[in-house]
Amino acid sequence: MTLRASRRGLVPPFIAMDVLRAATERAAAGADILHLEVGQPGTPAPRAVREAAQRALDQAPIGYTDALGITPLREAIAAHYRRQYGVAVDPAEAIVTTGSSAAFLLAFLAAFEAGDRVALAVPGYPAYRNILAALGIEPVLIAVGENTHYQPTPELLAEAGRLDGLIVASPANPTGTMIDADDLARLAQYCHDNGIRLVSDEIYHGITYEAAATTARACGGEVIVVNSFSKYYSMTGWRLGWMLAPPDLLRSIECLAQNFYISPPALSQLAAVAAFDCRAELDRHVVRYRANRDRLIAALRAAGLSRFAPADGAFYLYADISEVTRDSEEFCRRLLAETGVAITPGRDFDQARGGGWVRLSFAGRSEEVAEAARRLEAWLPRAG
Ligand SMILES: Cc1ncc(COP(=O)(O)O)c(C=O)c1O
Repeated sequence: MTLRASRRGLVPPFIAMDVLRAATERAAAGADILHLEVGQPGTPAPRAVREAAQRALDQAPIGYTDALGITPLREAIAAHYRRQYGVAVDPAEAIVTTGSSAAFLLAFLAAFEAGDRVALAVPGYPAYRNILAALGIEPVLIAVGENTHYQPTPELLAEAGRLDGLIVASPANPTGTMIDADDLARLAQYCHDNGIRLVSDEIYHGITYEAAATTARACGGEVIVVNSFSKYYSMTGWRLGWMLAPPDLLRSIECLAQNFYISPPALSQLAAVAAFDCRAELDRHVVRYRANRDRLIAALRAAGLSRFAPADGAFYLYADISEVTRDSEEFCRRLLAETGVAITPGRDFDQARGGGWVRLSFAGRSEEVAEAARRLEAWLPRAG
């Protein structure tokens, strides 16, 4: 008898990870590959974090921890909100998670019922809609563009019908756009007035080029804030994130976390306590990202591409290639095969319009991004 497989598991692939695999296979076969497909820093964790990890390895048993995280880290997270944003957070509301990815799963399960409708901007990070879909929650796609700075607005939400939740990201992936403090307050007020649970993904805070990012936590304690050590803190593989959870969801998140994960990685937690004191080192990475961004924009402009989302933060350039092609997957395949530059097709982020867009990550080393810019500039005129 044929065994059944669940339809809930049939979510689309994260194409960026598929491109990474193809690029890694080519590199293993000897090709000279430049990785601009995945959003991860080319730098290690800050020195003090690595030293703390070494001390912990030598001295501490690396066992399970409390499901919500070790107290010193929860206290450090709360202190970070006071210092960075002037917002008071009780350490009891700061929950440590296995990357922000786990925080989304826990938050969505705690806040939403199967069948609920949760809005999110498109283009946007694909895992939001895929995790929601796997949980039987309906993702409500809000198509955004230049006119709203690629971010949702109360007006767009009002056109979307009944909503139970809204996910926002500022700075956003793939567009790098940000929501300023006034617009964030307007969105939070709209959500409050309409019984919509706001989830704010703040994973790219710290990586900003124009103005500092504001936390949605400043709009009130009912907002779920998600963040991570992956991006600004340069710790993707340490698989550590956090969330600020409203008091009414705390206990259910705790029980879900106990059952799903037992605890977040202990070694990463012990090391991450030092991360908040490493801003000088980490801000130097942001200086490099800005230079990488400017170099990439200059190369694409020189090659005739001139329409990008603003990239005010994060480390991505979302570029319109529709004058060259509407098949961004084929475009990326050819680019990889002919130049060794790996980038991500826009369909990952926008299934309807993404055929005319690509995302380039400029989180890597300066030499790598500069060489990619050179190859792109030489190849693009031949791409059409
Ligand atoms: C917008 C956004 N949110 C969340 C994540 C997940 O990151 P992690 O699970 O490493 O914290 C990513 C990763 O690329 C992202 O771009």
